Amino acid sequence: MLILNNMKANDIIKRYSKVIAQANKMHYFPLVPVKAENAKVWDINGKEYIDFLSDAAVQNVGHNNPRVVKAVKEQVDKLMHASYIYAYPIEPLLLAEKLAEIAPIDNPKVSFGLTGGDANDAAIKFARAYTKRQTILSYMKSFYGSTYGAMSLTGLDFRVRAIVGELSGVHYLPYPYCYRCPFGKEPGSCKMECVEYIKEKFEGEVYAEGVAALFAEPIQGDSGIVVPPKNYFKKVTKILREHGILLVVDEIQSGMGRTGKWFAIEHFGVKPDIITVGKALGGGLPISATIGKAEIMDSLPPLSHAFTLSGNPTTSRAALAVIEEIEEKNLLRRAEKLGNYAMKRLREMMDKHELIGDVRGIGLMIGVELVKDRETKERAIEETSKVIERAFDLGLIVTHFSGNVLRIEPPLTIERETLDEGLDVLEKAIEDVEEGRV
Ligand SMILES: Cc1ncc(COP(=O)(O)O)c(C=O)c1O
Repeated sequence: MLILNNMKANDIIKRYSKVIAQANKMHYFPLVPVKAENAKVWDINGKEYIDFLSDAAVQNVGHNNPRVVKAVKEQVDKLMHASYIYAYPIEPLLLAEKLAEIAPIDNPKVSFGLTGGDANDAAIKFARAYTKRQTILSYMKSFYGSTYGAMSLTGLDFRVRAIVGELSGVHYLPYPYCYRCPFGKEPGSCKMECVEYIKEKFEGEVYAEGVAALFAEPIQGDSGIVVPPKNYFKKVTKILREHGILLVVDEIQSGMGRTGKWFAIEHFGVKPDIITVGKALGGGLPISATIGKAEIMDSLPPLSHAFTLSGNPTTSRAALAVIEEIEEKNLLRRAEKLGNYAMKRLREMMDKHELIGDVRGIGLMIGVELVKDRETKERAIEETSKVIERAFDLGLIVTHFSGNVLRIEPPLTIERETLDEGLDVLEKAIEDVEEGRV
């Protein structure tokens, strides 16, 4: 039995280090959560926090959403699991039909998994099988997950691959990060060199007709919430189509309403061939999905991509409840409205605080880049850690990407007052750091 009395956060953290592999962990702050509701989390000492992290963009419909909790309880009482490999449970079918309805892909089919990474591994297999090509294009600083395939596409951190090996045939493109343009351009002088680069790649490095797919995050998450120019994906897709290359979009962080549309790629006016989803899909339970054009998804033989516990009725029921909640509470509109409001407030803060170099995002997927100097754009790494630490002390859960980009991804259901309170805390933390109080 779990006994919480007399347990202290520090003791628990020490015990963690004894039995949990460090490869699973990243330490930001000593949070030991024991209860959560919508956009609030309570720790073991009863302290209340406002949550701008949402368990890494998982809690789009809020922690312990009552509709999701009820659906899960009902399902657990009735049929906790029945493998959809051998039998035909109804819940994964209903979920696949619903995902097919909301995904911006004509006539799709669905393959279920357990976590975002495996959805990307599935996409690699389907794309390679359908095109009968091996090469994959990915992006520098991208993140696709920790399974072998997803890790092999990831451009954010190469350390682990140097240790454990990787899939071959992956090439990288610079992502259109306009605040720090990889080609040194400014908005006025930009000629979309990042798109031209792809053509050059095909002339000098990669055989285009051997490329199965380009994997793209429509908004690059873990590199620091980087939003491409509006016409970027249209231009890229035109090149891909000329060479028969598939577009796979990873919506694991940006999907399920976070940006004010079901999928972030919808902001860019292109239809992908495959979409991967995870995180928020299960409302906190482990489920992922790879959604692709039927002919692509039928390119692998029976049992060539199947996990015993995927298509699970309980996680499928949770996902159906998440989708129902987003539809009934009109959370797409809410994400857009609250996102615009939060970004307006953050931009007002930028007028007062030199530490803020850039505010960007769509909907409630927002990045606030902290710099030591707005001219040189030197990353304010130490200051960012201090802001996070101070915010945590003041009761706000917020983390960073790339060492200096604050990650603002609260539940889409956060109350306006709670959002305001959280932004007030964030501003206080920034002010305290600027004035040397931390
Ligand atoms: C864009 C993106 N893709 C894939 C993943 C991997 O998802 P998971 O950790 O659920 O395997 C993540 C997780 O952070 C992500 O942000």
